[in-house]
Amino acid sequence: MELNLQHWRLTRDDQGIAVATLDRAGEATNALSAALMAELAHILDSLDKAPPTGLILRSGKEAGFIAGADIGEFSQLDTPEKGRELVTRGWNLFNRLAAVPYPTLALVRGHCLGGGLELALACRYLLAVDEAGTKMGLPEVMLGIFPGWGGMLRLPKRVGPAAALDMMLTGKTVDAKRAKKMGLADDCVPPRVMEMAARQLLLSGLSRRPLPFMQRLLGGPLKSVVANGARKQVAKKARPEHYPAPYAIIDLWEKYDGNALAAPEIIDRIITSPTARNLVRVFHLQERLKGFGKASDFTAKRVHVIGAGVMGGDIAAWCALRGMTVTLQDQTLERIAPALKRAHALFTKRLREPLKIRDAFDRLLPDPNGDGVAHADVVIEAIFENVEAKHALLKSLEPRMKAGAVLATNTSSLKLEDLRTVLQQPQRLVGIHFFNPVAMMPLVEVVEADLADPAAVQAACAFVKQIDKLPLPVKSEPGFLVNAVLAPYMLAAMRVVDEGISPETVDEAMLAFGMPMGPIELVDTVGLDIAMAAGKQLAGGAEAPRCLIERVEKGQLGKKSGQGFYDWSSGKAAKAAAGSVPAGLAERLVAPLISRVEKLVADGVVGDAALADAGVIFGTGFAPFTGGPIHFRQGQT
Ligand code: NAI
Repeated sequence: MELNLQHWRLTRDDQGIAVATLDRAGEATNALSAALMAELAHILDSLDKAPPTGLILRSGKEAGFIAGADIGEFSQLDTPEKGRELVTRGWNLFNRLAAVPYPTLALVRGHCLGGGLELALACRYLLAVDEAGTKMGLPEVMLGIFPGWGGMLRLPKRVGPAAALDMMLTGKTVDAKRAKKMGLADDCVPPRVMEMAARQLLLSGLSRRPLPFMQRLLGGPLKSVVANGARKQVAKKARPEHYPAPYAIIDLWEKYDGNALAAPEIIDRIITSPTARNLVRVFHLQERLKGFGKASDFTAKRVHVIGAGVMGGDIAAWCALRGMTVTLQDQTLERIAPALKRAHALFTKRLREPLKIRDAFDRLLPDPNGDGVAHADVVIEAIFENVEAKHALLKSLEPRMKAGAVLATNTSSLKLEDLRTVLQQPQRLVGIHFFNPVAMMPLVEVVEADLADPAAVQAACAFVKQIDKLPLPVKSEPGFLVNAVLAPYMLAAMRVVDEGISPETVDEAMLAFGMPMGPIELVDTVGLDIAMAAGKQLAGGAEAPRCLIERVEKGQLGKKSGQGFYDWSSGKAAKAAAGSVPAGLAERLVAPLISRVEKLVADGVVGDAALADAGVIFGTGFAPFTGGPIHFRQGQT
């Protein structure tokens, strides 16, 4: 049969091994579109007619194996019928692949996610190539959907139910070594031997080692115990009314052995749910933010950070974690020491392997004299929030820096236009505004002052992307985007406390709305003094809430002082039970936040409404299932 393939190449070697190379036409990465799946079916048809000794599935892309299903096609599913069709297509095709009489092998190099991993799982063997970019996972849950093409059936059988549920419910990925260890990959080899290893494994005739007895028990008679445990875990993080997909995954695994086609009502409910639509929107927004980092080919190797305090210390550690050589300056070595200690804890948590931890630590150099300035590609000042101090510092930095290096400030509240007056090249200064805690917050605002050099702004965005954060360009206005929208929200929450509603009840109203943290706990975390100062700057002259003034007067500044609205002496907010939440409270609290976002969009502080939604989601944790504040309000009206 003549095969007319656009997205695959099919060859056969002299051993009779067929190699199907996936190389999606016109794209840098492979995503499983309908057209590409149809071609795979044709390939299987042709191999049925003349069976090979074995089939290797591999990628022709530098970027990786397969990034997942085609999200663009997924976004167009507007009826339940189309949703079922999509599930049916992949489920049947991968079942067919799993049932072919000849051995099959997925050669996985680079990312292998979602539908890509489901395809690999349908092969008899999975060979993982051990290199930095190789990662495998089923992240569908993060888009509000489930792995419907056999992942829920095959992954638990391969790695055991606990590990499989963990991957499916969190979306977390594993690297090649881990994949081998957990039984997801049959082997893990370095790139130079992968061709030979693939052929050997394919023709080895080896059968997979069975799951240990206990795992079979957990996936068999004890299934409901495992499922109930998983439900409890999920409930700690996501409410079913906000995020139905993880609960659906557990149900589908427990009751239908991972076959969503056996429960079409679940497909209908999940695939076209507002949550799935909004999470897909958020995914696209995230890609848009990453795009800001691609406008320049600037790359940083060396970073110099001045100020080893809360922010500077953690920014330096994060950059070292991401592979850069970092010099960290403060007034004395003693002031740098606590930052190094925190950095070590971060490296240990994130890198696990002693060699990698040591390498990261070696990349982070204490530099009290500021010798690193002359070699740095990016210089970030994160000293006290004080104009005179920053002036003196910036003035001394400029003549020592390399031409073309980025000069950035992490200021939260000072105007860049005021800070740069001391510079020879004032247009050079940009804001790179991180959020606290640096390691946790995905967004970084890149602040563009009036008449700033566009190349400097683009380079700053590229740097932010390079360290795996999401850059959002904003104009140099008080509070930029994120702090400016949080201020009226926290203020509204404290006004409600002034009215006699307990902090616990206010917080519960917003947790039920879908916020990651209640606004009163947020005030405690930020610090009541900071909230007071921000309120003065951002609340347009409105009087501070009584509850705030009283506490600040008593020196109750929140988490950092051990007492604020809550008692923090245990390290966590000691909360009493919340009262019943008055109807409409959440809407009342969120309204000023949304109105402020709209105003900032109208004022051009952020590029457009969709970017503002992205910024507020990734900068504040604003309930992602709503699609962002403006999208949420539009849905209300
Ligand atoms: P911090 O008070 O924890 O640390 C400031 C550090 O700068 C201190 O270790 C101090 O010794 C050092 N320092 C002061 N003057 C110096 C100089 N001339 N040379 C070298 N080191 C000097 O302050 P934090 O909270 O880290 O804030 C730093 C900057 O980051 C400020 O501009 C602040 O507005 C901004 N920021 C703070 C956030 C926060 O949550 N704390 C969030 C985002 C931005």
